Amino acid sequence: MTRKLHIKTYGCQMNVYDSARMTDVLLPLGYQVTDHPDDADMVILNTCHIREKAAEKVYSELGRLNRTKQYRQDQGLDMILAVAGCVAQAEGDEILRRAPFVDLVFGPQTYHNLPEMIARTSRQGGTVLNTDFTVEAKFDHLPETTADSGALDGASAFLTVQEGCDKFCAFCVVPYTRGAEFSRRPAEILEEAHRLVDLGVKEVTLLGQNVNSYHGLSGDEHEWGLGRLIRATSEIAGVERIRYTTSYPADVDDALIAAHRDVEQLMPFLHLPVQSGSDRILKAMNRRHGADDYRALVERLRAARPDLALSSDFIVGFPGETDDDFKATMKLVEDIGFIQAYSFKYSPRPGTPAATLENQIDEALKGERLAILQESLNAQQLAFNKSCVGSVMPVLLDRLGRKAGQMVGRSPFMQPVHVTAPEELFGTIVGLCIEEGKANSLAGSLSEGDISSSRNPKQHKENAA
Ligand code: SAH
Ligand code: F3S
Repeated sequence: MTRKLHIKTYGCQMNVYDSARMTDVLLPLGYQVTDHPDDADMVILNTCHIREKAAEKVYSELGRLNRTKQYRQDQGLDMILAVAGCVAQAEGDEILRRAPFVDLVFGPQTYHNLPEMIARTSRQGGTVLNTDFTVEAKFDHLPETTADSGALDGASAFLTVQEGCDKFCAFCVVPYTRGAEFSRRPAEILEEAHRLVDLGVKEVTLLGQNVNSYHGLSGDEHEWGLGRLIRATSEIAGVERIRYTTSYPADVDDALIAAHRDVEQLMPFLHLPVQSGSDRILKAMNRRHGADDYRALVERLRAARPDLALSSDFIVGFPGETDDDFKATMKLVEDIGFIQAYSFKYSPRPGTPAATLENQIDEALKGERLAILQESLNAQQLAFNKSCVGSVMPVLLDRLGRKAGQMVGRSPFMQPVHVTAPEELFGTIVGLCIEEGKANSLAGSLSEGDISSSRNPKQHKENAA
């Protein structure tokens, strides 16, 4: 009998990857993926705990799902309701208290045990709670990626290389929810990359909470850093594009910078969270880099890869942030020029050092600062998108658009590009003449010329110039 599975994913790309791997675990048990929770025999919420709003969303969704579950039960159908991810890890007991109708609560390091946990729920009733913390076991026991699991978003796929974080930024729950840093072995990662290419993948994004702290042990027990791993990935035939996320500025080393210089498939776009432009606040955040360190790092990266474009994360209203601190952040934004960014109001997270600091900032002031920052970041993004008009960009067409014949692809700089194109081009990299630059996306048309010549993103600058 086939049973239906619905997974709803919140938060970061690592959760997207994990949801796909949970699907890989469940397909052999006879589950089929459905987009509708109402038809599902099992619903998993893969949750995010990073900010308060993200965590609260889970409880309102659980309320809705409880009604669905009861409706199904009235019709004699069962539904296993499960909470996975970082909320499960951080507040398992709280979930049991606030949502006792949940059957299964399990943390990010336990996904390989799903079959056993499901069997336990049906045997014993009540809620099964599993917030075990050994990452190694998870990767050793997860089955191989399959085409059906949704691990693949068209021709682009995530590949987790590193998990967890030992940095303990004062505001952040990740070290508590994902645990200590763990790097997978290079051989295992490269094998997974091979498999992805065999499944039709052209773009691989190496994932980690702190991806450039990667230090995997190779067969001869040498440590590989991320730069070396990127080089090895680029040698796999069929890997046309490589990205990595998310990186920590203080851990960008010479080998990684050299990879940006030498590895043609490494895309000229880097998400490099800075959080603040004030040295005082960066210190209080325990970030291990100052604002000028960040400026100098960006300079070195741009020297290695002149067309490199940057995106970042910002937090406004960290405890003690003064007007001058905030001005320093605005100055950094102006100095660097980001083509895209995420910015957030500081959200105190239980258990983190910053949550208990006394000099918390008023919500209204956080809101004002966020609006000012976002105005500037949005203006930079729009200006960059507009500057692309007139150039030919290699775009990986990896999503179908809403209307027939429309597709959406990704530029080297991660901009979504809308185009009308024949279906057989889906999953390929095509040269697009960029005709329109909007706030969050570009629009283009198929370029008549030789697209192979525009495949090298390094040429984008020359084309545009
Ligand atoms: N190492 C990863 C994960 C960090 S979480 C990374 O750097 O992306 C993603 C972003 O969420 C962080 O960069 C930070 O800007 C934001 N964030 C984390 N904790 C936060 C908090 N307590 N309040 C507001 N924003 C937060
Ligand atoms: Fe969080 Fe800082 Fe690690 S933002 S994930 S503690 S690098």
